[in-house]
Amino acid sequence: MIETNDFDLENRIVAPEVIKADTTDDVDLNLRPKTFDEYIGQEKAKENLKIYIEAAKKRGDTLDHVLLYGPPGLGKTTLSGIIAHEMGVNFRVTSGPAIEKPGDLAALLTNLQEGDVLFIDEIHRLSRAIEEVLYPALEDYALDIIIGKGPSARSIRLDLNKFTLVGATTRAGQLTSPLRDRFGVIQRLEIYSKDELCDIIMRSSVILGVACDKDGAYELASRSRGTPRIANRLLKRVRDYADIMGNGKVTKDIVQIALDRMEVDNLGLDGLDRRLLNMIIKGYNGGPVGLETLASAIGEEAVTIEDVCEPYLMQLGFISRTPRGRCATDLAYKHLGLLKDGQTTL
Ligand code: ADE
Repeated sequence: MIETNDFDLENRIVAPEVIKADTTDDVDLNLRPKTFDEYIGQEKAKENLKIYIEAAKKRGDTLDHVLLYGPPGLGKTTLSGIIAHEMGVNFRVTSGPAIEKPGDLAALLTNLQEGDVLFIDEIHRLSRAIEEVLYPALEDYALDIIIGKGPSARSIRLDLNKFTLVGATTRAGQLTSPLRDRFGVIQRLEIYSKDELCDIIMRSSVILGVACDKDGAYELASRSRGTPRIANRLLKRVRDYADIMGNGKVTKDIVQIALDRMEVDNLGLDGLDRRLLNMIIKGYNGGPVGLETLASAIGEEAVTIEDVCEPYLMQLGFISRTPRGRCATDLAYKHLGLLKDGQTTL
């Protein structure tokens, strides 16, 4: 496999985050399930949420505030949209970094109708000042507004319509405890199994009008890092190879050809992942090597390694984090065809 070194992170085909190619493609919206029945996987989360929604509806009440957490690309936004749909209310979407001033949040909150779902993505990135505005809103459905400055300043309370906040985060540990404590429902989303991803790919191929056989879908599922967003993105690219190099059908052979050309290997690792593992193994004798040292050795930012590569490599058991730095495991050596003394097994 030919390795390229110039990595364009914004267009990384196996990025779990939304990349440019996703956002310019409005077909993505059609791939998003709109009801629990259409939504594949996350059985535990679905089962729990269905009960909470049914109970809230039975009482004629709004749903308690919900925190969804887990790695990117697993469908937190999609699931929130389904919650709003099943509750029969409006769905308003924003994100932690988009709310810059307390006034931005106040404007969002005062525009909510009774029962609406407000979705805040990356909620761990809200500033403290904004969190302070959020607390009375979550607890008492009220905004405390300070009028004036200095000794004559006074606070007035503005009532809000009752609403449900759905917060999403990839880093539950970074949430302040006062904020975390205000969610009645805290639900973790899990990496998808290959069978679930296979079902998602088959569903998406019907929506996209792409012929795809089971073996093709399974091969694609195996290389999608347990993440539907990656599976759907790869499906769209593989379709191009099927159209040009095959008879339009996504088969196992076509998936292998296409993904090899995209430098995504049989486990979904790309050039960046392999460069990282190779550096630990060949450059630092398997580790331990400190994060910052590793980052400068491969010419990437430490946060890129932490947020983009490591979650999946750790999930595969290819990297371990020790107090003295990162180590490559035996599984990583094996996957790269390397022996511990640096010789290849091939
Ligand atoms: N597309 C993306 N995520 C999905 C899911 N969980 N179920 C069905 N289709 C999807």
